[in-house]
Amino acid sequence: MTVEAEPLSRLRQRTSEKWGEYPDDVLPLFVAEMDYPLAAPIAQALHAAIDRSDTGYIGPDDRVKRAFADYAQTRWDWTVDPARTRTTTDVSVVIVEALRSLIEPGDRVVITPPVYPPFFELIPEAGGVVEEVPLLEGGADGAGWALDLAGLERAFAGGAKAFLLCNPHNPLGLVHPRAELEAVAALAAHHGVSVVSDEVHAPLTHSDATFTPFLSVSEEARRIGIAAHSASKAWNLAGLKCALFVTASAEQAERIHALPVEVEVRTSLFGRIANEAAYRSGQEWLDGALHAIEANRMLLSVLLTDRLPHVRYREPHASYLAWLDLRELGWGDRPAKRILEEARVALVAGEDFGAQGAGFVRLNLACSPEVLTEAIDRIAALAGR
Ligand SMILES: Cc1ncc(COP(=O)(O)O)c(C=O)c1O
Repeated sequence: MTVEAEPLSRLRQRTSEKWGEYPDDVLPLFVAEMDYPLAAPIAQALHAAIDRSDTGYIGPDDRVKRAFADYAQTRWDWTVDPARTRTTTDVSVVIVEALRSLIEPGDRVVITPPVYPPFFELIPEAGGVVEEVPLLEGGADGAGWALDLAGLERAFAGGAKAFLLCNPHNPLGLVHPRAELEAVAALAAHHGVSVVSDEVHAPLTHSDATFTPFLSVSEEARRIGIAAHSASKAWNLAGLKCALFVTASAEQAERIHALPVEVEVRTSLFGRIANEAAYRSGQEWLDGALHAIEANRMLLSVLLTDRLPHVRYREPHASYLAWLDLRELGWGDRPAKRILEEARVALVAGEDFGAQGAGFVRLNLACSPEVLTEAIDRIAALAGR
């Protein structure tokens, strides 16, 4: 099916962060929300819940867990036992509660910047201390960015207790190859390090890449790992609040089942209904959305080559976020500020993702081709001044 961004006049009626943060003269390509209309099966499920006044407390219904397990099997050939999953409010809560149960206060937790900015805050919230092992630019084969396996090994050997993996990786749209995830699992297991794998972008893997669930790579991964999943990113349901802890060993399942019942009760009922509908009946819509995103990913390459040739960009292979290197424009460490003030385009400052992001910006591709073109035109006009 064809999925297209809604017109600006309609988008501006939304009250979410993307459309509520800036005045109408700003094109908002910052926060990771999509401009497409909600998938029809999700809208229908939510309307039906309202029609039956199903607005009470969340009950013990496990349909979303079974829907996720069926999705994982069909989509990724990954067998998930619904009994070894639990739900909670959102992916951030999965990360905090998983880490809190895996580490002692003051333990070091590794992240791989440039990476999703809240990681820098979720780790201290769980009592941990952030240890950075930046991604390597260039990668093993020179084709892009990659995990620094030697750096990870040093951090693990040096006493880090957990690794918060972003799989696929925001902001680079990096889909980690299976062999690298196997190596991570082996290294972490060898050094007694636990892995929390944030897989919220997984359903948004592009047609030219293959997502590998961390817990599918080895017995070691299953023994040491907890994965975080949600339909929130791929189906634009962040405001509805539901995510899953996923485990694949008796030890880790026991750990998440030992979490207080309150952690699960904080799942939103509408979030659970919407996530179930997404996993059960949302694939056709998601394929359409991915088609539009991949078209914009390529359009951005063309626009940059044509209008901003000094901007470096490697096309993402997952999600709808483009990581742009603006250093050659000479706009300093925080070009997003100037672009907002003078070109009236809102992007995320690269520095928010770690010091490695100075001079970079993150741009959201889940918009119409017209909005993307207008945004690049505005930035190019600024560059041409
Ligand atoms: C890597 C990553 N993890 C987690 C989240 C947030 O998920 P949630 O809204 O379910 O907490 C995002 C949102 O963009 C993300 O990119």
